[in-house]
Amino acid sequence: MAPVLTIADLKEMHRRHTPKMFFDYADSGSYTEGTYRENETAFSAIKLRQRVARNIDNRSVASTILGKPATMPVYLAPVGLTGMQWADGEIKAARAAEKFGVPFTLSTMSICSIEDVAAHTEKPFWFQLYVMRDRGFAADLIARAKAAGCSALVLTLDLQILGQRHKDLRNGLSAPPKMTPQVISDLMMHPSWCMKMLGTKRRQFGNIVGHVKGVDDMSSLSDWTASQFDPTLDWSSIDWVRKHWDGPLILKGVGDVDDARIAADTGADAITVSNHGGRQLDGAPASIHMLPEIAEAVGDKIEIHMDGGIRSGQDVVKAMALGAHATSIGRAFVHGLGAMGEAGVTRALEIIRREMDITMALCGETDINALGAHNVWGGVPRSAPVVNTDNERALHAVGA
Ligand code: FNR
Repeated sequence: MAPVLTIADLKEMHRRHTPKMFFDYADSGSYTEGTYRENETAFSAIKLRQRVARNIDNRSVASTILGKPATMPVYLAPVGLTGMQWADGEIKAARAAEKFGVPFTLSTMSICSIEDVAAHTEKPFWFQLYVMRDRGFAADLIARAKAAGCSALVLTLDLQILGQRHKDLRNGLSAPPKMTPQVISDLMMHPSWCMKMLGTKRRQFGNIVGHVKGVDDMSSLSDWTASQFDPTLDWSSIDWVRKHWDGPLILKGVGDVDDARIAADTGADAITVSNHGGRQLDGAPASIHMLPEIAEAVGDKIEIHMDGGIRSGQDVVKAMALGAHATSIGRAFVHGLGAMGEAGVTRALEIIRREMDITMALCGETDINALGAHNVWGGVPRSAPVVNTDNERALHAVGA
């Protein structure tokens, strides 16, 4: 077997091992998928400065996230339906993360429930909250996260309404899958995935089914979810969350400097510069393009996290150099999970750590927390110039 050296290798294994409906769910963005692609390609346009003849013998990529030690400044982002990529996927990923020494974030839309993950892990994990119209249920989720010992709450702000992902509609995504002829033939091509799924009871949204009256099968659950994400959520809702949660709070999905300024004044502990992995506003800039301006504006007030498009340790080095205090990975760990279960998540983390260490060393640095604008060749990139109108375009054309 060819050696597994990169996240791209894990992605290919994930693709082969997993029914198309679930692989596509991970490998998709909204509408044209432009922002999804841009998140990745924007990283390759950023270049690092090669520094030589510096003592790079004793190096460390260890860091702190929300004041707690972490093996590296990378954690697992909340990802819905992780338990459909590999049986008991959230438990497997959480166990890999805790052994590796980085935080795991459980999504509201997970397959394994908060209590189930807590029962199968030793260390506290983080919980991600979607605020629902049914505030009683949202308060209940927070209380359950607290009771399970979760050590941070990640409040996602960029999904008040669902971005349309064409692949999911074409594939008829559901959990568990509905048995159409197309799905049956797909499942038959992935027998080992099916065997593992048949060996677990965890095949529905574990945080929701059984906790909400009238939601006991997939069709009522999907109706319920579509009608439940709260479009009225606004900055005052943070106060509501704060009344129920007094622990560390991360505001996830900040993609504009004006919003970052508001977020920094809410009393939250961190913000995540994110466009939801290109799954929400298609046409939004790449996360790494949004990062420098936001870090410069509020980096001295609030801890800055960033996600979107990270597929290597080089990407993490670039994000740290451009002002992130920590980064999170979605698809990079999901590909590992879908390829090899818990061992695959560990492999993904190992690949990223090793790439980060070597890249940092070749930049002439020994401490991941000492990276900065001085490591970026050509200086910190500013967002691409915005050309709004034909008139402006004409002015640019004449060099105005
Ligand atoms: C996500 N993301 C996400 N975010 C969130 O707050 N709650 C969720 O349930 C999900 N679900 C989800 C499913 C899948 C399949 C993906 C790929 C992503 C977004 C996620 O937390 C993170 O912001 C992105 O994944 C980061 O981009 P990369 O690393 O996947 O490129």
